[in-house]
Amino acid sequence: MTALMSAMDRKIGGQLTRLRRSGVITGKRGQSVSVFLPSKSSVKSVLVQGAGPSRKLTYEQLRRAAGVAARELAVLRADAVTVDLTDPMFRKLDFALLGRALAEGFGMGAYHFAAYKSEDDARDLKLGTIVFGCSTQAQADAVNEGLRVGQIVATAVNTARDLSNTPANDLTPEEFVARAKEVFKSAKNMTIEVIDRAKAKKLKMGAFLGVAQGSDSEAYILLLHYAGGAKEKPLALVGKGVTFDTGGISLKPAKRMGDMKGDMSGAAAVFATMRALVDLKVKKNVVGVMPLTENMASATAQRPGDVVTAMNGKTIEIINTDAEGRLILADALTYIVRQGARKVVDLATLTGACTVVLGDEAAAILGNDDRMIAEFKALSDYTGERLWQLPLYPEFLEYLKSDTADIANCTENGKAGTSTAAKFLEQFVGDAPWVHLDIASIMDAERTSGYQIKGMAGSGVRSLIEYVLREKG
Ligand code: BES
Ligand code: ZN
Ligand code: ZN
Repeated sequence: MTALMSAMDRKIGGQLTRLRRSGVITGKRGQSVSVFLPSKSSVKSVLVQGAGPSRKLTYEQLRRAAGVAARELAVLRADAVTVDLTDPMFRKLDFALLGRALAEGFGMGAYHFAAYKSEDDARDLKLGTIVFGCSTQAQADAVNEGLRVGQIVATAVNTARDLSNTPANDLTPEEFVARAKEVFKSAKNMTIEVIDRAKAKKLKMGAFLGVAQGSDSEAYILLLHYAGGAKEKPLALVGKGVTFDTGGISLKPAKRMGDMKGDMSGAAAVFATMRALVDLKVKKNVVGVMPLTENMASATAQRPGDVVTAMNGKTIEIINTDAEGRLILADALTYIVRQGARKVVDLATLTGACTVVLGDEAAAILGNDDRMIAEFKALSDYTGERLWQLPLYPEFLEYLKSDTADIANCTENGKAGTSTAAKFLEQFVGDAPWVHLDIASIMDAERTSGYQIKGMAGSGVRSLIEYVLREKG
């Protein structure tokens, strides 16, 4: 027991020691035990948060424990919290990364979405009041710097969750753009560019417009240009922004179709990442690209068998109107590569097949650049957002052969669904180094646990931020 804990223990007549000896406090993952102190004490309660085995302590383990603790602290009505980091088990960790992981866990774990509840009985944990108890001043300085970054990251994830959780009747493409204008209106180094239908027509974005034509809502490609760096070409982050995916004429089944309000989670992740870059004052040039539209089934909707011409001149036969994400991304990718992006990362809730392969445990990563893929895989060890590589074999292009057009938007048989979708996207990135993250598998959380809150997960945000922070030219 640390000195701090011993002091607390003495105040309550050795209760903590007893609870541990009697096997009530186990330290098991997810276990929270709270003990209340006498009313005259300035400290009101002690929370012992289990994080699982401490032998090979990972940042993700601690991030998850912080997530559970956040909700427990909210129940305790704690308004000021001291986290004891003096235990020797923390010694081997980097305290800046530790502070970050904990702040991320607290911030994400305390999230709840109550925008549509008339009465909200959940209690928010205020992150601003967290203090870390450390053994040395150097540790304290490092952990506080980590705390600052972690809070920004958690806020970004929660921003993405808010966007994805908001129902599609409210979060239309128009509303998405309005929120960007609101959030970034006074942000330094940020310029907003909006391509509407008329402009998209001039640019010959037939693939994007084909999807958008079924919807009465406006459709846009939103670009957030962040100029924090010198005169380098920007890194492009491209996110799928289908504000609702009915499947179009190839209509989806009714079961859980409502989840498709989250089909703009890629765009939400890009939006949220751009917000974090502003808050972190990152010294790089980054452009966020968000094609935003609904995919509706209507009298004006595109049909299976239709042929559209993408901005890069390729003709595409629509085999299935539900494979719409790759169509809107195609033109967004062509546009940004032609604008001179130095590297491209795209992020999309693209295929159900991704969940078939990976369950809820990882996003799929594919791309044309082994170095970028390796960098993403390496950073996921820290972020805890698992990325699992799937192949992009040349043969997959043959799966997309069309009798009528240059390429089909998907296969009839669904073989290698995640890979063929990525193969399709690859046709629109030219020679740019490119990575694709299929986040369909981790779009939402089925239940609350750790820092995951039931509902849309804000996934991809942490990977994107981390990539921008680590990426070198
Ligand atoms: N938005 C869906 C993919 C999806 C499914 C995301 C479930 C999250 C959860 C995408 O537009 C889609 O419908 N893809 C089709 C492609 C198929 C028609 C080739 C799919 O996966 O079934
Ligand atoms: Zn679809
Ligand atoms: Zn979709």
